Parts: sequence; structure tokens; C-alpha cells
Amino acid sequence: MKNSFRKKPLSLLLEEMKSEHRLNRILGPVALTSLGVGAIIGTGIFVLIGVAAHDKAGPAVTLSFALAGFACIFAALCYAEFASMAPVAGSAYTYAYATLGELFAWIIGWDLILEYAVASASVAHGWSHYFQDFIGIFGWSLPAALCRAPIDFDQATGTFIPTGTMFDLPAVLITLVITIVLVKGIRESAGFNTGMVIVKLAIVLLVIFLGAKYVKPENWQPFAPFGYSGLSVFGHTILGQTGPGGAPIGVLAGAAMIFFAYIGFDSVSTHAEEARNPQRDVPIGLIASLIICTVLYIAVAAVITGMVPYDKINIDAPVSDAFRQVGLGWAQFLVSLGAMTGITSVLLVMMLSQPRIFLAMARDGLLPKNFFGSIHEKYRTPWKSTILTGFFVALLSAFLPLRLLAELVNIGTLFAFVVVCSAVLIMRKTNPDADRPFRAPLVPLVPIAGILTCLLLMFSLPAENWWRLIIWLAIGFCIYFFYGRHHSILNRLQD
Ligand code: ALA
Repeated sequence: MKNSFRKKPLSLLLEEMKSEHRLNRILGPVALTSLGVGAIIGTGIFVLIGVAAHDKAGPAVTLSFALAGFACIFAALCYAEFASMAPVAGSAYTYAYATLGELFAWIIGWDLILEYAVASASVAHGWSHYFQDFIGIFGWSLPAALCRAPIDFDQATGTFIPTGTMFDLPAVLITLVITIVLVKGIRESAGFNTGMVIVKLAIVLLVIFLGAKYVKPENWQPFAPFGYSGLSVFGHTILGQTGPGGAPIGVLAGAAMIFFAYIGFDSVSTHAEEARNPQRDVPIGLIASLIICTVLYIAVAAVITGMVPYDKINIDAPVSDAFRQVGLGWAQFLVSLGAMTGITSVLLVMMLSQPRIFLAMARDGLLPKNFFGSIHEKYRTPWKSTILTGFFVALLSAFLPLRLLAELVNIGTLFAFVVVCSAVLIMRKTNPDADRPFRAPLVPLVPIAGILTCLLLMFSLPAENWWRLIIWLAIGFCIYFFYGRHHSILNRLQD
């Protein structure tokens, strides 16, 4: 058991960075910020804002965005400190290995599958919603059987219900395309990404400035129809109102849902190994992308809830539909196209990050190295695990509904953030003199505020997500005890 808490020394991490078989260092601060924005603005702002405004927070979803952004800033500062200390692939997984020990590191690595691979499946669904909205503009539609996942989760009864469809075809197709692009390599991917990020930002600015002309301030009343809170502990509401099936509703509950919209900023840290000057550029990439997105989100939320009464907001493609509702067909067309482009870039970065986390875990022996650690001779990409990730994402997005996936992603990611904030506190105690080119300010205040705000959001999610998270972690736990513990490189080094 003691072995499960062995830690990877910081010196070993830094030593490994110098060895061969590393990824190419080609990303500068603009490319990193662009990767961050590329990973952030997607299904959250284009799709989930609809459910959050309609069912959870009303026009006060603007506050939900502010709150979730605030929670992420604390975590981003902690990520930045770590990424500057140990700029290797692996992100939170690697940080946990150095501070909390191997078992925790494995649990976090396993948990990050929720953040990247499962999030990719949610994002692919969002893409599918806009694809269907887009072809709908021309009066076309897909056969009903191929439009969405065959099951949905009925919050009111707490059961899965059939939707009468077979699977989500557009979600599977976009996953396939992205997988092929990623196998070809990061240089192409980063260039492709920058183009998509520019289109996405242009569309978001169009939504804000054009939409602002159609805002009717009376739509902002009542501002918080579901209240300002929404907090429950394992299904027992302790603050605010309760919605269908006992799920919390209100601004906090809205924040817990649209937290999804912020996920991805930390993927900048997973590219630390490919950064030209990681100590300086990774913190810049993390914090700049998060601040840009928070400001844009608050503005988009204010505009959409001002254009359409909150209870008339469409929950499938809410942003483009708001323009349809005010009679601007051409803008619906552009927004729909821009949303598809923007969501594609999220999928690209998310699916790019997952194999790199597997790679870090494989290098440590916690996953089979000949599969997850294998780098393509010509493309220099972790191609086998990229294909595996693509397969897993396609499977989930084909058969499971968006909301269920997104909430699971949120709780998993919030858990990872709690661990990263805790790890900063621990590292300051255990390695006080380590070189920290970027230091999170106001320690211990910032990490503690990060831990508390993330826990608050975790408790504002419907209770079943806690059970799903626990089951997921328990499966990971078993894999570690049967595989990782015995194959760990540290195990061999200590023998
Ligand atoms: N933040 C990303 C999105 O909203 C995951 O699509």
C-alpha cells in the first residue's frame, strides 16, 4: 500500500524532459492562447447556455457565467504555477504524481478521461445540433433515427428513457474527421486550429454586437426566476429551489452546468511539452484564454437572454435560433456555420490532449507503453492512442445524450481542479525552494478559494453525478491495483 503513495521527484520530471523521444517544441504564446480559446469556446456557450437559461437560471445565467469563470481563474493560477515548474505533458496527472503520489496521480489521469474524451463526446453532440440546425435552414433534415442518441436521462423519474432513434450520425462523422487530422500531426493541427479560432471569435463578436441591437430589456425580467443559489448535498437541497427530480436550480446550479463552457483552458498546460518557452508562455496562454472567454461569455449570455424570453430559448441550437426568432435568417446561417467551426476547434484540442495524457501515463508505466507510448515514426504523434480516443469518443457520442455526458464531464473536471489547487498547497510545503518561474499569487488564499468554489459547483450538480463519478473512479482504482501498481517505472527504480 505504501508504494501506492510513492511520489515522482520533481528532479526526475525535469530530467525526463531532457531525454529523447519528446514531442516537438513549436508552440509560442499566441499559438498557446489560441489553443486555449480553441478548446474553450464551443458547445458550452453555443448549446448548454440554452438549457442553463431555460431550466436553471433564466436571464441570471449571465451571473452563472461570471461565477463559473471566477472559479476557473483560481484553478488557472494554480495550473500556471505547476505548468511553469514542470512543463511536461500530462497536466494535472503529472502534478499529482509529484505531490500526492502514484495512486492519486492515476486517479487523476483516469478522471481526466472524463474531462477530455467524455467532453469530446459531449462536444461532438453540440456539433451535431448545429449541423442539423444548419441543414434545416435549407429545409433539409436527417432521418429521425440518425439525429440523436437512442436514450435520454429523465431527471424527473431518475431513469433512462428511449428516444426512438438509433444513434447520432453527425457526431460520429465529425469525430472520425478530427481523428484523422490528429494522427497527421500537431503542426497541421495548430494551423488548422488558428484559422477556426479566428472564425469562431468573429462569430461570437457578431452575436454580441448584432444581437445587442435586438435586446429588449423587459426580457431580462424576472432576472433570476429560479433564485440565486441552488445547492444540494447528495440530493438534499440545502440552499435555493429544487427542480424536477430534486435537482438544484438557480444561479449556482446554472453555473455548475455552464462550467462546461470553461473546460479546456487547462489543456494549454497539456501542451507544455510542445511549448517553445513553457515557463513564460504556458501561464500566459492559460490566463489570457480564460479571461478573453469569460468576458465574451458574459456578453453573449446577456445578449441572448435579452433577445429571447428565457422560457422561449431553444435548447438545441440556442444562439442561432435567437437570430431566427428575431427574423434575421442570414445571421442564423452565419452563426450556425460559425458554431460548427468553433465547436470543431474544441473537439480538435480536446482530442489532441487526451492521447498526450495517456502518453505521460504510459511513460510512467501506468499504462502499456507499447500502445499508449508509441509515437509515429513520421508524424511524431501518439497515433495509436489517438485512434483509440477517436473510437471511444465516437461510441459515447453515438449512444449517450449530451446533458448526461456534460454533467459527468463537469463533476470530473471540477474534481481535477480541486486536486490541482490542493497540490499547489502541498508542493509549496514539500518543495518550498523549487524553481517557480510563475507563482500563483496570494497562496494559500487562491488555492483554498479554488478548492471551495469548485466543491460548491460540484454540489450544485444533480446528485446522480456524484454516484457516476464514484463508480468511474472505482473502476480506475481496480485497474491501478491490477496493472499500474505492478508496472510502474518507479516500482522498478525502487527495486
Ligand atoms: N469548453 C468546451 C465547450 O464548451 C468544452 O465546448
